[in-house]
Amino acid sequence: MEKDTPFVVAIDGPAGAGKSTTAKKLAATLGYAFLDTGAIYRAVALAARRPGNDLGDGASLGPLAARLDIAFVPVAESNRLILDGVDASGDIRTSEISDGASRVSALPPVRAALLGLQRRLAAHSRVVAEGRDVGTVVFPQAAAKFFLTAPPEERARRRSRELEAAGRPSDPATVMAEMVARDQRDSTRKTAPLRKAEDALEIDSGGLSPEQVVAQMVEVVRARGG
Ligand code: DC
Repeated sequence: MEKDTPFVVAIDGPAGAGKSTTAKKLAATLGYAFLDTGAIYRAVALAARRPGNDLGDGASLGPLAARLDIAFVPVAESNRLILDGVDASGDIRTSEISDGASRVSALPPVRAALLGLQRRLAAHSRVVAEGRDVGTVVFPQAAAKFFLTAPPEERARRRSRELEAAGRPSDPATVMAEMVARDQRDSTRKTAPLRKAEDALEIDSGGLSPEQVVAQMVEVVRARGG
């Protein structure tokens, strides 16, 4: 492989399937960079959050997304998200922004505005990228692709734990309902819906530890020359 050709490992799947945890661990194990594409859509939702703003208005949110300065700064095991010069890593993790990100990400002008940024962030390095359309649209030539799933109850439990760890405990039934609504929207939108790429390996993380999932992935990536 040529030095400057990006080597991408793509991980897609619904909310709570364990993408972030496994993608971070996989990146650390392989010594690759980690690209959280969902954080980028979350940043757009945060920037678009104003009273009276219509999160379905692609004509104004596309140009807004294109104007934003979105960057990642690796700190310890995580990536801080810097939006227009301000660390927004905590602010993008609320339930409100989860829902907003799902809404703005359904708008074709927003997706078009963010495509180049995602590809630039993966250029010149080996990257584990996670999201919804990473293996299908953003990096169709990815060296290895995974589609991570888990039973809905388990995904909702994980999401509840994440919110609790972030100091935002939520009612489990509400978490489940929000997650189902978000997955439904993400999977049925017209542009770049959540779906498994034909050449992706599906892994059901239900009942598996993150280490077990990562071990399976490492084996595949190594076999592809990673
Ligand atoms: O992975 P996440 O929960 O942080 O993603 C938030 C939302 O962003 C998700 O509901 C849909 C959208 N998204 C997307 O449309 N495409 C991606 N590659 C990543 C996220």
